Amino acid sequence: MIKRPLGKTGMETSILSLGTGGARQFGQNMGHSIKDQTKLVHAALDMGINIFDTASHYGHSESILGNCLSGVQRDSFLICTKWPARDETDNTVLDPTKLIESVNKSLARLQTDYIDIMLFHGIMPDEYLSIVENLYPTMAQLKSEGKIRSIGFSSRFSEDPEQKSIELGLSQNPDLWDVVMLKYGILNQHAAKEILPLAQKHQIGTINMAAVRVKLPDANLLEELIAKWKSSGLIDINSLPSSDPLGWLIDGNVTSVIEAGYKFAAEPESISTVLTGTASIPHLKMNVESIREPNLKKEHLDRLKNTLSHIVEYA
Ligand SMILES: NC(=O)c1ccc[n+]([C@@H]2O[C@H](COP(=O)([O-])OP(=O)(O)OC[C@H]3O[C@@H](n4cnc5c(N)ncnc54)[C@H](OP(=O)(O)O)[C@@H]3O)[C@@H](O)[C@H]2O)c1
Repeated sequence: MIKRPLGKTGMETSILSLGTGGARQFGQNMGHSIKDQTKLVHAALDMGINIFDTASHYGHSESILGNCLSGVQRDSFLICTKWPARDETDNTVLDPTKLIESVNKSLARLQTDYIDIMLFHGIMPDEYLSIVENLYPTMAQLKSEGKIRSIGFSSRFSEDPEQKSIELGLSQNPDLWDVVMLKYGILNQHAAKEILPLAQKHQIGTINMAAVRVKLPDANLLEELIAKWKSSGLIDINSLPSSDPLGWLIDGNVTSVIEAGYKFAAEPESISTVLTGTASIPHLKMNVESIREPNLKKEHLDRLKNTLSHIVEYA
């Protein structure tokens, strides 16, 4: 498994990491048992994955992950977890005591003394400043106490598909952030414009989330989406075939569009790790294989960039 530095944190991440949110939520939505989840986590560790992503509100994901990893040597893996800084009822930014409370609860659920990567979850551009002013000092305090090792935030790409909050953070306060969680993939390459160069310049670790997600794995949805872009003039009508529009990526060492999706997501050196949200061990194996060589043929990469680099797709 290829390892990459997580910015300037001193940590190294496997190029593929396991996410326990997204549609699969660690198999919680699929009736998976703790035995299944433990097998998945141990299969990931055996394949060389050393980083696991969770969040305080991915169902019971933190507790499940804590259980799955109990007994595993603590310094052999990294945990990333997140906290939504916003009160869902009135959309106001929460106060620092809630952050301390939540981190303590996360530590207990994860059965650990420290969190390697602690993120503000899904920051919107209009709350960025308030989070920096009102909550960042508490996060820094938690870091100085050794409860967390690095600080970052993720974007809410469903509502901010251009990830303006990350552009803001990396351009205005690059010194504050150790890590950002962003979305970069075939159907949303926007991060390549400003975010990835800024992350590289300031040595900020990048965790790539939801690079495959919903539409790449589903041939029908993909056809519909590309047809919509053609009819709205977003892409040239002749740029991609109408049927199986990305099928041409299946070539040489690429056996599926999904595989191409993970390779594409890991191709920039400025990406530290790519999350896969699969709950299936066979799929995990395939994804590990995919990312063993994180590059597409140059002409395929160029075609994807030339055709789709201006698209900012949510799913
Ligand atoms: N910070 C945030 O706001 C945020 C937002 C979204 C996600 N995330 C994190 O990012 C992680 C990854 O995002 P995601 O869950 O959307 O992941 P993803 O890896 O982009 O997509 C996962 C989907 O692809 C399918 N899939 C994966 N590998 C496959 C394969 N080889 N063959 C067929 N289908 C395959 C999965 O189904 P199967 O289970 O059937 O394989 C699942 O439906 C999440 O788990 C979460 O930890 C964070």
